[in-house]
Amino acid sequence: MIIKNVNLETVCGITSRLPDNVLPEIAFAGKSNVGKSSLINAVMNRKSLARTSSQPGKTQTINYYNVNDAFYLVDLPGYGYAKANEAIKAQWGKMVERYLRSSKQLKTVFLLIDIRHEPSANDRQMYQWICHQGYHPVIIATKMDKLNRSQVPKALKTVREGLEADKGTVIIPFSAQTKQGREEIYDLIDSLLAA
Ligand code: GTP
Ligand code: MG
Repeated sequence: MIIKNVNLETVCGITSRLPDNVLPEIAFAGKSNVGKSSLINAVMNRKSLARTSSQPGKTQTINYYNVNDAFYLVDLPGYGYAKANEAIKAQWGKMVERYLRSSKQLKTVFLLIDIRHEPSANDRQMYQWICHQGYHPVIIATKMDKLNRSQVPKALKTVREGLEADKGTVIIPFSAQTKQGREEIYDLIDSLLAA
């Protein structure tokens, strides 16, 4: 895939109407701070178009990045941000839920899990919820640069088992720092768009 042009086209808050897009959408879900916005930057080949932060809870809106006028990468707010108050958390959850339930152009959801940690109950719920909506989530095990190469296979097994993922579920180890795994993500997006 060659990235020719990208732009942040639509930003949706809690009360916004979701856009009636014509182009296909690919969304990125996962816990706060897992690396969704960083992955989107890596895929778009931009340093910081999607805003990232070492503090969880950075992305609080649904952000649609138009890529090549061919498709959208959709950055979702993270779940499990402990510092947000309950009302805000519930609203973010509703916003993401509404998006996953109602977006007509959504082709696939990538669910990001930190490769160093066993998936949480929230991660499992998210995986099941995405499946329940009729999608086959692709799992991205993020921050693989934080592990030694030899630790990766076991960590991937922990992610798969912790999510109780179906046998056919694809899990791609990825690092936004080294860009490892990016080619696999490009190939997957290409095949999704061609389908
Ligand atoms: P929210 O918007 O809060 O939901 O977070 P997010 O999932 O968008 O995470 P974000 O991309 O903002 O990254 C969170 C932190 O993790 C930042 O400090 C990033 O620099 C760091 N980070 C993301 N991906 C990687 C990675 O692959 N390797 C390393 N070492 N750090 C990463
Ligand atoms: Mg973010």
